Amino acid sequence: MKGIVLAGGLGSRLHPLTKVTNKHLLPIYDRPMINYPIQTLVKAGITDIMIVTGGQHAGEFLRLLGDGKEFGLSQLHYAYQEGEEGIAKALSLARAFVGGDKVCTILGDNILQDDIAPQVRAFADSSLGAYLFLKEIDDPQRFGVAVFDNNRRLQAVEEKPPNPKSNFAVIGVYLYNASVFDVIDTLRPSRRGEYEITDVSNYYISKGIADYHVITGWWSDAGTFESLYRAGALVREKALPDRKGGKID
Ligand code: DAU
Repeated sequence: MKGIVLAGGLGSRLHPLTKVTNKHLLPIYDRPMINYPIQTLVKAGITDIMIVTGGQHAGEFLRLLGDGKEFGLSQLHYAYQEGEEGIAKALSLARAFVGGDKVCTILGDNILQDDIAPQVRAFADSSLGAYLFLKEIDDPQRFGVAVFDNNRRLQAVEEKPPNPKSNFAVIGVYLYNASVFDVIDTLRPSRRGEYEITDVSNYYISKGIADYHVITGWWSDAGTFESLYRAGALVREKALPDRKGGKID
């Protein structure tokens, strides 16, 4: 399975912090934000990884990450996103890299404690088109939110609904099969002018070929001042004791 870390976008919600650097290079406690999603992929056994980034500071990713040796990788791949047309559009830049493989996409500002290796392995062996990770939280309005039927089957994902139909946020880790790029080709921009990853997931849900797992460990995004602060505090409190050899285990 291929791994994609999406680290494009302008990070405008974090101005002025992101005026002179890319959001994913900002510190989460003692290391740059981008390190955490890369580590999540590597821990899941995914070693063929592409970083999609953009903006004026894209070159800094090369300086920071190089060929990924720090993560035990022999090579890292890079793609450049012009502008900020949305998460699905950023993923589409990995089409040639992914080829006919399945793909695990992780948002560059998502930090999670859980090891996703069991779900990645199960998805690799399945005939599913999509697999999502959910987290039960108190304030899901800021995220994609799961809609269930009475049997807890996923019916849809609603993007930032003012009145969420559940407390289960869709976190920024998405497993798709190789058809995802054809699905992205059919998308239209949303009201906020972006190609939405939620629309991609809804395609597979509507076809009945999507499943999900509810994570139990801590999770945070880091795209706002509050969540950036929270993510750093979580790492400091919870992850630090587990670290061995400078890596998060
Ligand atoms: O954090 C999980 C949430 O992420 C999901 O629950 C939502 O369904 C999903 O839409 C997304 O919501 P956000 O509005 O918080 O996403 P944001 O625009 O902050 O982008 C998240 C990451 O995606 C960002 O750190 C880098 C990447 N990205 C985003 C855009 C818009 C790109 O690489 N290119 C882009 O054009």
